[in-house]
Amino acid sequence: MVGEGKLLKCKICGSVLEKLVQGPETANCDDLEELTPKYDGEGSQKHVPILERDGDNVIIKVGEITHPMEVEHQICFIELIDEDVTYRKTLKPGEEPKAVFKVETDINKLKTREYCNVHGLWEA
Ligand SMILES: [Fe+2]
Repeated sequence: MVGEGKLLKCKICGSVLEKLVQGPETANCDDLEELTPKYDGEGSQKHVPILERDGDNVIIKVGEITHPMEVEHQICFIELIDEDVTYRKTLKPGEEPKAVFKVETDINKLKTREYCNVHGLWEA
């Protein structure tokens, strides 16, 4: 069973959805597959999000090498997860693959993930 907060991708249309609430039934939705985050390996230099603190802000940059931001290949969103609170920035083609959130939590206790429309979900 896919847990709350996990991301799912529709096998038919490619839409990405987040499971926010577990319903009472445990039946499988056959057209949805859970996205498994990647942490390293091929493509990691352009995809693994990097967290930096700048005063009260946390800056998230996607990869050590700047990722393309074109319609056919782009970072669609960046999330910062602080336990039960999720911050999300959606991105459009041409924008910098970067997000800034005002968060005071220790940077080592935060989790971040981003979704590339070609290479999938990446987490740090
Ligand atoms: Fe990519």
